[in-house]
Amino acid sequence: MPARRVVLLGSTGSIGTQTMDVIEQLRAVHVHHEVIALSAGHDSPRFRAQIEAACPQWICVADEVEASRLASDFPDAAVVWGRGGLVQLAQLDKADLVVNALVGSVGLPPTLAALDRGKAVALANKESLAIGGELIAHALQARSGSLVSIDSEHHALYRCLGDRPPREVRRLLLTASGGPFLRSSAEDLVDMTPERALRHPTWSMGHRITIDCATMVNKAFEVIGAHRLFGIPYEAISVLIHPDSHVHSLVEFVDGSLLAELGPRDMRIAIQGILTYPEHAPTQLSRLPIEEGFTLSFEPFSPQQFPAYATVLEAARAGGTALAAINAADETLITRFLNRDIGFPDIASGLARTLDQWRVEFDPHRSPVSLPAIEAADAWARSFARQL
Ligand SMILES: NC(=O)c1ccc[n+]([C@@H]2O[C@H](COP(=O)([O-])OP(=O)(O)OC[C@H]3O[C@@H](n4cnc5c(N)ncnc54)[C@H](OP(=O)(O)O)[C@@H]3O)[C@@H](O)[C@H]2O)c1
Repeated sequence: MPARRVVLLGSTGSIGTQTMDVIEQLRAVHVHHEVIALSAGHDSPRFRAQIEAACPQWICVADEVEASRLASDFPDAAVVWGRGGLVQLAQLDKADLVVNALVGSVGLPPTLAALDRGKAVALANKESLAIGGELIAHALQARSGSLVSIDSEHHALYRCLGDRPPREVRRLLLTASGGPFLRSSAEDLVDMTPERALRHPTWSMGHRITIDCATMVNKAFEVIGAHRLFGIPYEAISVLIHPDSHVHSLVEFVDGSLLAELGPRDMRIAIQGILTYPEHAPTQLSRLPIEEGFTLSFEPFSPQQFPAYATVLEAARAGGTALAAINAADETLITRFLNRDIGFPDIASGLARTLDQWRVEFDPHRSPVSLPAIEAADAWARSFARQL
């Protein structure tokens, strides 16, 4: 397994810290990845501890003033800042692998920049794939770069599909825990607090994705990601409720056989699987106690129960910059919900209104999708969702 020089964007988040942990654990099996660059939103104690541990040659934070403070405290590193800084790190000549663990649309420009330089990208930032899927596909065709998704569901699909072509696949089945509100009625949701929404039954993650799990926007992004990554039509991708979260996804082949990937509820297994793919490397992480006896339960998924899921897939079918608008509105509405400015059901209704208004403002003038077009739709949707 080759050692690689890694740029890790979003190193202080849930995926970022777990990636650091996996890289550390891989040393025990003689896979020595070198972290050459780290980025975070802010100068925080966690970020400083990571810099001290990994001694990266490049550092990036969002803000210029914080960047100057870091530059004087870490004189051996080159410090850059802002979106331009993220793009610089993604294009470093020395980098073999760019791990993008940023949250939100800020992740798209560095993804494209890395692919434009022919880098290998391990992409946790699922917003990149949703809002910039066409640009990513174009960059992959035009250059020698590669992209794999860091997501337990997509990792399961890589493992189950192996090298089988799409014509042998009847459908992909993405599992979903159902989130904290699987058993809640529409009436219950009216008074749901941010604390309740942030209490995910099986996974511990950043705030944005945790709320996206409660609305199922996250699952819609995964469906879009699976469509784009594996070239399987939307009609052949289904969601299956699996509250235990032990089966991470399944593939049904045309001969009726099903392959599933199971494992503990630990994202580090998917992260390591992607860092070592297609090989499996030993790990000290906990194992699934399957011989102690356990049952797996599955339930049908009802999109009517999660209206935001349907809106996101409708935006995917609308094409153009619809998903960029929906993603930006989602980020804005989630912040408003966490600040107790709007209720939980207002996230789904706000997304539907954003899509309706996007059709009025953008659809008739649809032009080819480009980064500036995505950024314009993003800025418009943030402003629209702030006023809802
Ligand atoms: N968490 C999971 O288990 C999981 C699983 C599958 C996929 N994903 C996807 O992985 C991505 C990251 O998720 P997460 O849960 O790890 O998020 P998170 O915990 O919120 O971490 C986000 C990271 O991005 C940084 N960041 C945020 N805004 C930034 C900005 N404007 N400029 C530069 N850096 C910024 C944060 O820095 P600060 O810490 O300084 O704010 C942090 O390092 C998301 O797309 C998510 O959907 C996550």
